[in-house]
Formats: sequence, structure tokens, C-alpha cells
Amino acid sequence: MNPTPKMWGQSHYYGACPPNMGIYLFDHAVKMLIERPAPILEVGTDYGGSALLFLDALAQTKADTFLVTVDPWGFKPYPTGQPIYGDNRQEFALSLLAAWARSLHVRWHHFKMNSVDFLEHVQHLGCWYNGKHMPYEWGMVFLDGEHIWDTVRKEVETLNMAPGGHIIIDNAMHTQLDGSDLPTLLHQNYKGEMFHYNDNDAAFTVNPT
Ligand SMILES: C[S@@+](CC[C@H](N)C(=O)[O-])C[C@H]1O[C@@H](n2cnc3c(N)ncnc32)[C@H](O)[C@@H]1O
Repeated sequence: MNPTPKMWGQSHYYGACPPNMGIYLFDHAVKMLIERPAPILEVGTDYGGSALLFLDALAQTKADTFLVTVDPWGFKPYPTGQPIYGDNRQEFALSLLAAWARSLHVRWHHFKMNSVDFLEHVQHLGCWYNGKHMPYEWGMVFLDGEHIWDTVRKEVETLNMAPGGHIIIDNAMHTQLDGSDLPTLLHQNYKGEMFHYNDNDAAFTVNPT
């Protein structure tokens, strides 16, 4: 069964993102998983659209790694607007993703919390995988959570990136409400290269060595 593009189309992902963003994310995930398989982190899950395509990338590449998603839902107030992401979305996303991960035989787990809390704690933890204890070191990160500068700055500063890892930030210009500079922030924290930057997203690759 290969219902992937149809599944993405039915998800709510396209409601919030440009139509080609799904293909863009999928291609980057596949590239990373083939070249240097390492865990994928998604911040901001909502109804599960982008997480769905990361699961598909894991299945297509058969990469020996996993997806982690982080989202508090619960009508958490947004600093810039009304809270809209409630527990109905959580229930939908968790059941969709659990069923899809299971059917594809790929691994995924979710943390119901804020990204900054998650990243501050997870850097001291690590996880067990295939009999080994390993740090959470990300091969690809998709930041699509709070979309405000202070949060994105903290997220970027606390990410533990694998060599060659990709950081993709949704609505890049929107995170710069105070005029701060996202490319500078990335270059201050990582040795690497900005390979895409516009209103809709910023994409950065950490040097492989
Ligand atoms: C734009 S939606 C994400 C869209 C999703 N990636 C998709 O494919 O449909 C933003 C999500 O970020 C979550 N969120 C808000 N603040 C957050 C934070 N500090 N950490 C993690 N997630 C957050 C919201 O609950 C909401 O579900």
C-alpha cells in the first residue's frame, strides 16, 4: 500500500503550510535518513500532518532510527494570539500517528510538553535503542511550534544536532517579530550552511564533521 501523498493531502498539514512544503520536508528527511540516519524531532504536531510524512520517510528509507514529536496542545495560550490548539487535536493526532506508525513498522514517540522544557531536559537524558543507551542527537529538526523569536531562539540554542543534521524552521520571518536575525542565530550556534531562507521557512545544515 502506498497512500502517502493522499494521506498528506487529507491531513491538516496543508491547511497551515504552502502546498509544496510537505514534499520539501519529505525530501530532506529522506536525504538525511539515507546519508546519515539519526532521529527526527518535530516541534509542533497539531493534527499530525508533518509527523505523518516523517513516518513515511522512515518507512521509505527503512532507516534504523525514529521520530520524536513534541506538542503541549491543551489550549496553551500563544503569546501572539488566541489559544487554538486543543485536546481534540491531540486525540486526533495521537491516534492517527499511532495507527500509521504501526502499519508502517516505524518507531515514533510523543512528549506532551513545551519544546523549550523538552530540549532543556532531554539533553541530560538520552534513550535506549536496540540495546544501547544513546543521546538524543537529531539528524533533522522541524521547528513548527510557537513561532515567536524568544522560543525559536531558545530552541535553536538547546538543540543537540548530529553532524550533518538539518534544522528547518517554519514561517521563518514570523519568528523575527523583533527584527532579530535567524541566519545569524544559526551561525552563532552551529558551524554549517544556510541553504534556504524566505518568508515560509529557513533551512540550515550542520557541517558533517
Ligand atoms: C502550526 S501548528 C503545527 C502544525 C503541524 N506541524 C502540522 O503539520 O500540521 C503549531 C503547533 O505547535 C504547538 N505548540 C505551541 N507552542 C509550542 C511549544 N512551545 N512547544 C511545542 N509545541 C508548541 C501547538 O499546540 C500547535 O499544535
